[in-house]
This record gives sequence, structure tokens and C-alpha cells, in this order.
Amino acid sequence: MAAVRSFIALDLPPTVKRALEDVAVRLSGTLDAVRWVKSENIHLTLKFLGDVQEDRFPDLQDAIDRVGTAFGPIQLGLDAVGAFPSPGRARVIWVGLSGDLLQLNRMHLEMDSAALECGFEPETRPFRPHLTLGRSRSATVSLPDVDQMVSPILFEAARLRLIRSDLGRRGARYTDLHSVVLKRRRTI
Ligand code: 2AM
Repeated sequence: MAAVRSFIALDLPPTVKRALEDVAVRLSGTLDAVRWVKSENIHLTLKFLGDVQEDRFPDLQDAIDRVGTAFGPIQLGLDAVGAFPSPGRARVIWVGLSGDLLQLNRMHLEMDSAALECGFEPETRPFRPHLTLGRSRSATVSLPDVDQMVSPILFEAARLRLIRSDLGRRGARYTDLHSVVLKRRRTI
């Protein structure tokens, strides 16, 4: 049976993606060895699944629906630019988040345990929510001074998606496999 590389993510409104693209364009003036993520592909990963056997998708979709209907939209904001593992050795360049991070963490925990019921190992590393803008092709990229580079836009994350990721030479190609609108009015 075929295995499909997949992950679960929260969607971002188009205005947020455009603002992130502006940040990436400005950063690309000083950082050249970076592969930038196409703005339409920028997302907030909640759970990376890895290679999933196709027969696991019905259970996973049910799990996503359960989590999606237990939460309302999450109020978030764009925070500052940062990098993993550190700004001095920037392999993954991202924008951090502000706002209702408590609720976002709750949702991550719920999704992790719902995925565990479907047989996916829980995340062992701490959840560090971020929006990846680019990945460096060199180990020595250092972030420039990025204070004030991001407009502190507020937004709602209102849809949870199961996404297929096909890796290619031009970066990843994403395809939606399933999605649910967060519609609970009173948050848990
Ligand atoms: P990233 O944004 O920090 O690169 C699809 O690959 C998504 O899943 C990306 O957003 C990526 O996070 C995330 N992800 C989390 N763990 C991963 C892993 N072990 N391998 C690849 N991607 C991972």
C-alpha cells in the first residue's frame, strides 16, 4: 500500500500570507542561500505525521473532525522573525506568533492525543508554533537585524487541514486531503 507524507496544519488568511511574503522579500535582500516558501504554502503545523499508509486516512479524518469541532477559531497575531536552531545559525527562518497561545497549545495537545489513538507517536519535542518562511541551504546563514520587520497583524486561524506533501526539486507540493472549519463558539 502506498504511503503518503502528510501533516496537519492550521490555515492562515490571505492577508497574513501576503504580509509574510513581504517579510520574506525584505529578508531575501540580505539572505541569499535560502529556499523561500511560496506564500500560498505558508501554514501553521500542528502535527507532522510523516509517511502515512493510505488506509489510516479515514480514522485520521475522523480525529481531525473531532478536534476541529471541539474548538472555535483561534485568535492569533504575527510576532517577530526568528530561526531554528538559532538566529546565528539560521536553518529554518520563521515568524513567531502572539495571541491565544494557550488555546493553540490545547489544540496541539488534543490533536496529538487524537492522532495517538490512530497509532501516531506523540511529539516528544516541545511545541514551538511558528510560520516557516524559508529554509537555508547553508549551515552558516545568520539572521540580519530583524526588529520591527513584521507588522503585528491580528487574525483568526479558523480551519484545520490534513495536507499531503510531495517533495520535489523545487520544494514541496501540497495537496489538501481533508479540512474542517473550527466552529465551536465556547472554547474549551
Ligand atoms: P517546519 O515548518 O518547521 O519546516 C511539512 O513538512 C510541515 O511539517 C512543515 O511545516 C514542517 O515544519 C513540519 N514538520 C514538523 N516535523 C517535521 C519533520 N520531522 N520533518 C519534516 N517536516 C516536519
